[in-house]
Amino acid sequence: MSHEESLILAETDGHVGIIRLNRPKVLNALNPELMAALAAQMETYDKDPGIYVIVLSGSEKAWAAGADIGDMAEQSVVSMYERDQFATWERIKRVKKPIVAAVSGWCLGGGCELMMHCDVVIASETAQFGQPEINIGVMPGAGGTQRLPRALGKALAMDVILSGRFLSAQEALDHGLVSRVVPKEHFFAEAVKVAHAIASKGPIALRFAKEGVLKAFETPLSEGLEFERKLFYMLFATEDQKEGMRAFVEKRKPTFKGK
Ligand code: HXC
Repeated sequence: MSHEESLILAETDGHVGIIRLNRPKVLNALNPELMAALAAQMETYDKDPGIYVIVLSGSEKAWAAGADIGDMAEQSVVSMYERDQFATWERIKRVKKPIVAAVSGWCLGGGCELMMHCDVVIASETAQFGQPEINIGVMPGAGGTQRLPRALGKALAMDVILSGRFLSAQEALDHGLVSRVVPKEHFFAEAVKVAHAIASKGPIALRFAKEGVLKAFETPLSEGLEFERKLFYMLFATEDQKEGMRAFVEKRKPTFKGK
């Protein structure tokens, strides 16, 4: 398959694994084949001991304008049920390494839901966020009704999901949907820079910290705190904890090994 035909493009930059969605003609609409390729590449990076952080990006014009409407238009409830496309999304949810999203342009529907599967979101000032499924007679199906209110609060999430209106990058930042907003020329480079900064930390601590934060959305506070404490204690069994703390005491930079 030539580069132009690949649904995703993958490359590495030191300890950072980069994936770009690549269906430019349809604004990176997410069909099952693209999602399968994406999940497989994420799992490859997740298993690769040389990769500490993953960057997921679209193009400057579109992160992803949603699930592929043409692909879904003639599906029935039975065919949708049987092809079980959300099993692929579950694989992305299970990725343990931090995922930095580099978002520019359209970030809509399933695209917005994919962005919410990522951990740190670097948005171009041109990015537009929305769940416009309501305009085509459906509703979010890959977590939008659950993750969006957790980020935006109920009233704004309801507004976005029920009216189909888009949020600007600044609005998304103001309401906690994204981490940082940067000029459009820099969104990808900035995301890679942030990924490298994260990759310089201890890889095991990174994975545990991600797991801890995600647990906050799944459990009552007391259970989440107990989970956090166990993860925290476990890090004292790693060489990286010794190295990190000794380096601080000895006033030098730590060298983490992921051990
Ligand atoms: C398939 C899509 C697409 C999509 C855009 N295209 N979005 N194809 N699925 N989600 C295609 C268009 O058909 C068009 O193809 C080309 O991309 C360029 O799009 P235009 O509409 O011409 O561009 P523009 O006028 O700039 O408008 C951009 C846009 C609009 C506002 C993003 O394309 C749009 O509203 N797209 C749909 C957004 C949406 O409803 N997303 C939710 C999908 S449902 P041609 O061949 O004409 O050039 C969903 C459910 C998730 O995500 C459930 C979980 C998986």
